[in-house]
Amino acid sequence: MYIDNKHYRTIWPSPRCQSVEIINQTLLPFKFEVLQITSLTMMVEAIRTMQVRGAPLIGAAAAYGMALAMREDDGDASLQSAAAQLIAARPTAVNLAWAVNRMVETLTALEPAKRNINAWQQAAHIAEEDVKQNQAIGEHGLQLIKDAHDGSTFNVLTHCNAGWLATVDYGTALSPIYAAHDAGLAVHVWVDETRPRNQGASLTAWELAQHGVPHTVITDNAGGHLMQQGQVDMVIVGADRVTAGGDVCNKIGTYLKALAAHDNHVPFYAAVPSPTIDWQVKANEIDIENRHEDEVLTITGLAQDQTIQQVRVVAEGSPALNPAFDVTPARLVTGIITERGVFKPSNLYQLASQLEESVGNPV
Ligand code: MRU
Repeated sequence: MYIDNKHYRTIWPSPRCQSVEIINQTLLPFKFEVLQITSLTMMVEAIRTMQVRGAPLIGAAAAYGMALAMREDDGDASLQSAAAQLIAARPTAVNLAWAVNRMVETLTALEPAKRNINAWQQAAHIAEEDVKQNQAIGEHGLQLIKDAHDGSTFNVLTHCNAGWLATVDYGTALSPIYAAHDAGLAVHVWVDETRPRNQGASLTAWELAQHGVPHTVITDNAGGHLMQQGQVDMVIVGADRVTAGGDVCNKIGTYLKALAAHDNHVPFYAAVPSPTIDWQVKANEIDIENRHEDEVLTITGLAQDQTIQQVRVVAEGSPALNPAFDVTPARLVTGIITERGVFKPSNLYQLASQLEESVGNPV
């Protein structure tokens, strides 16, 4: 990804593996700030407060959190405590627990003195895998767009931010869009603003603009209307957890878009690297994160004096409820775009077999 024409990833270790640098996503699009994370506690906080966010990215961030913990104390108790703190930071995206468990498995088998160096290598490996997987998702998704494209502008609707800011690089839902744009296809993106935290308006619109992809921000309620008007050719979203049966847990409001897409015969795809698939969980067992009501009661933006400010939009005295994710049933999902191709939700078991046969090869 390029920001003002300079190549970036969303997370990277310092040259001598003493800290981790992240792009602070709570200040975008108004301020670009790189934060230096120097401790496990800081990384847990960065994930909890969504300075880093997006399922694949919080997986990589948690892996680096384990590395920071091993730098502080490489003992067994520290290992277990770090894992528990990181997993508790955000419950819904399975990538986080997946990455932490993978780190724990590798590190537990090593004598403590070898854990620090190994943890940094393993975290870098997880980050690298994410990049490769998302790049491959872009190639498979590009083929879908090519197949459906009739030469006129192809309109994709997306929800939340599942672009490179939500991953280490490339993005999931936006990866096919970048690939299509780079291949010279005329694509335009309808960007759901995505209340309450406005990841669409603040992050997706910003990164699409950085890449030069034509886009328009719409209110969360506009998508159904645009579909009825024939102005949406495809919906592509990311996911925080997908069940083996193809149910897609993603940012709150995704389900309503899938219902509208179904009613209007618009194909609805989820773009998902395989670590986002939870082969064990059932749809009704997914732990849906409930975030603080202030995210609903207030809104953050740039004031006229150019400072970032949070203002209240609801009268004092009214409470709010803030479930952060919902689950779209598999019957509303046309396909799951993965690093190994596009699968019907009911055929995800084929992906499971492919993954079993190729352990250690991410794509
Ligand atoms: O709460 P967030 O901003 O972390 O939620 C992000 C999403 O819901 C994304 O759509 C999802 O993580 C897919 S990321 C490629």
